[in-house]
Amino acid sequence: MTELDPGPLFEMLTAYEGSMVLMASNELGIFDELSEAGLSAAELASRLGASSRCTEMLLNACVAVGLLHKTGQTFHNTPLTEDFLVRGKPNYLGRVVAKEQEFYGPWGRLAQAVREDKAQLAPMSERLRRDPATARNFLLALHDLALLFGTPLPDYVDLSGRKKLLDVGGGVGTYSIMLAQRNPQLRAVVLDLPPVREFAEEMIAGNGLSDRISFEAGDYQAASLGEGYDVILLANILHDNPVASCRELLRKSHDALVEGGLVIINEFFLDANKTGPPVGAIFSLVMLLENQGAAAYPAEEIKGWVLDAGFVDPVVRPLPEPSPMVVIVAHKP
Ligand SMILES: C[S@@+](CC[C@H](N)C(=O)[O-])C[C@H]1O[C@@H](n2cnc3c(N)ncnc32)[C@H](O)[C@@H]1O
Repeated sequence: MTELDPGPLFEMLTAYEGSMVLMASNELGIFDELSEAGLSAAELASRLGASSRCTEMLLNACVAVGLLHKTGQTFHNTPLTEDFLVRGKPNYLGRVVAKEQEFYGPWGRLAQAVREDKAQLAPMSERLRRDPATARNFLLALHDLALLFGTPLPDYVDLSGRKKLLDVGGGVGTYSIMLAQRNPQLRAVVLDLPPVREFAEEMIAGNGLSDRISFEAGDYQAASLGEGYDVILLANILHDNPVASCRELLRKSHDALVEGGLVIINEFFLDANKTGPPVGAIFSLVMLLENQGAAAYPAEEIKGWVLDAGFVDPVVRPLPEPSPMVVIVAHKP
C-alpha cells in the first residue's frame, strides 16, 4: 500500500469539469440573468429556454464551485460573478471566458497535437473569414486581457520624443491606445489582417484617437514591415510564431526602424528552463494548439534573437504582479 495521497491527481484530473461549469454558465447567460436579483431554477430555466431539471443541476454545481449562492430555492450571483461575469459591467470578463472555451475542444486533442506537431485551431486569417463574430470576440477578449495585465506597459517604456510607432499584429489597437494616451506626441499604425480593420477602427474611435492611430491592413509575414518607424511593438506576437518566423520578424523590425529606434516585445513570462511559472509553461501548450509551430519563449531566448537581429542593450523587465507578462526593450544602434 502506498503512503502517497492521490488527492492532487484527482484534483488535476477533474479540474476541467469546474472549468466547464463556468464556461457553460457563461454561455447560457446565467450570471447576466441573476444580476441584481436572485431567481429559482425554474424561473431561470424559463428565461433561458432551457430544461428546468438540468438548469437546477448546473446551478447547484455552480454553488458547489463557488460561482453562485443558494438561499432556500433561490440562486444568487456571488460578488465575484456579479463583478466579472455580468455583461456591461466595467470589469466584465465574459468575453475572456468565451475565448477560453474556444480552446476546450482543441485541449481534448492535446495528445494528438503532440504526436503530430499539429495545431488544432485554424489560422487566424481563416477564423476571421469563417466566423467573424467568434473571431471578434477573441480579439475583444485580448483587449480585455491587455487592460487586465498590460496596463503597466507604458510605465516600462520611455517613448519621450518618439513620434511614429508600428503595432505589429496590433489587434483592436489596445496597446497603441495605451501608449498614445501616455505619450501625446506619438502616432501609431496598427498592422493587422484586413477583417480586423472594422473592429480596430471602432475601438480606436471609441477612445477618441482616430486622429493619431490608423489601421493598416496587411500581413506581418510579408517581406517588409515598412520603414521610418521610431518604435516597433511586438505585443504577444512572437509566441504565435515558430522560432524562424520570430527571428525574421525581429530582422524586419530592425529594417523598419530609424537609427536609434526601439523595439518593444511584450510576452508571457517563462523561466529559462521553460517549466515555470505554470501560467507560462501551460500557455506554451495553448500556443502549440493554436498556431502551427508556435510556443512560448523565455525572455533570455528572445534576448538572444534580439541581439542576433542587430539590436543592442536589451533590457528585460517583468511587469508587476499579478501580470504574467514580461517586457523586453532594445535599440537599433
Ligand atoms: C495574439 S494577438 C495579439 C494582439 C495584440 N497585439 C495584443 O497584444 O493584444 C495576434 C494578432 O496578430 C494578428 N495576426 C495574425 N497573423 C497575422 C499576419 N500574418 N499579419 C498581420 N496580423 C496578423 C491577429 O489578427 C491578432 O490580432
